[in-house]
Amino acid sequence: MDEHVKARALFFSPWHCVTKRDIYMSLIVGNVEAHYARQGLELAILTALDEAGVDLGQLKTEDLAPIDEFHIGGRKFTLEFARQLELDETMHVLDVGSGLGGPSRCLAVEFGCQVTGIDLSEEYCRVASMLAQKLGLDSQVSYRHGNAIDMPFKEGSFDVLWTQHAAMNIADKTKLYTEMWRVLKPGGVLAIYDVLAGGGGPVHFPVPWAREAGISHLLSPQQLRNTLEGIGFEVLSWQDATGKGRSWFRRMGAKIKQEGLPRLGIHLLLGDDFRLMAQNQVCNLEEDRIVLIETIVQRPSSPSAIQRKD
Ligand SMILES: C[S@@+](CC[C@H](N)C(=O)[O-])C[C@H]1O[C@@H](n2cnc3c(N)ncnc32)[C@H](O)[C@@H]1O
Repeated sequence: MDEHVKARALFFSPWHCVTKRDIYMSLIVGNVEAHYARQGLELAILTALDEAGVDLGQLKTEDLAPIDEFHIGGRKFTLEFARQLELDETMHVLDVGSGLGGPSRCLAVEFGCQVTGIDLSEEYCRVASMLAQKLGLDSQVSYRHGNAIDMPFKEGSFDVLWTQHAAMNIADKTKLYTEMWRVLKPGGVLAIYDVLAGGGGPVHFPVPWAREAGISHLLSPQQLRNTLEGIGFEVLSWQDATGKGRSWFRRMGAKIKQEGLPRLGIHLLLGDDFRLMAQNQVCNLEEDRIVLIETIVQRPSSPSAIQRKD
């Protein structure tokens, strides 16, 4: 159901004591979903693959990377970060804000693990499942439509939690990371690669995760660290990836200038705003308005080690 309709239904529901916050949250969730919505996405991707000369019968995860790794650095950054995790085929990973599923399929193929993705966009989950099926990965990866702050999984369901460029749309970070803590096994790790607020001033909009400030919620690196430690996570590694993100964007920019936009790319997801979003993203990075952090944190295994604030 459309989130605006849901908000109205909530308002008129006789058995639900509706608060202003319920309505506000419902509208915000709807706005985030609307931001990522793209009519005819499945056909657009399959057509672009065909035009790029990809044989759909021999499809590989790498072929999809220009569109399904929707974060700065793409598949290269996914692989570099994942290699720090010692993933193997015994593990079940949850990708929070899994988008079109590129990272989840990459982890499954490269490390043999089982991966579940969860995403707010029903359309993205549907297309992610279709792509997994085309790659013959449907027994190893699956996708659930849902909200990261209220996930449909039992406590301690996953060995590893993985999230890239999704928290920027989520206002209540304590709720988000507490929910991640809940579904992670004791001793399990959470790997976060996110865009955070830099010290250089407000973000230039539109950006790939938001056309306006209302659905953009960035913490500073210190605020993120305090939030994670406040919940009880132990920081195992903390890396500033801003420099390598800037270099990646410069290389991308030079390539597009020389060769034009590729058939398959994030522009298919973002539509007409893509160029302005990409330009703003470069300025935001260069002017230190945003920074990139890769961090791996652990839910301690022994109850005595837990300092969680409930
Ligand atoms: C920029 S994309 C990144 C997708 C993917 N992590 C990747 O790197 O390819 C952000 C994703 O986060 C999802 N998202 C935003 N808010 C969410 C929420 N509250 N719960 C679940 N997913 C969310 C969006 O629907 C979108 O697919």
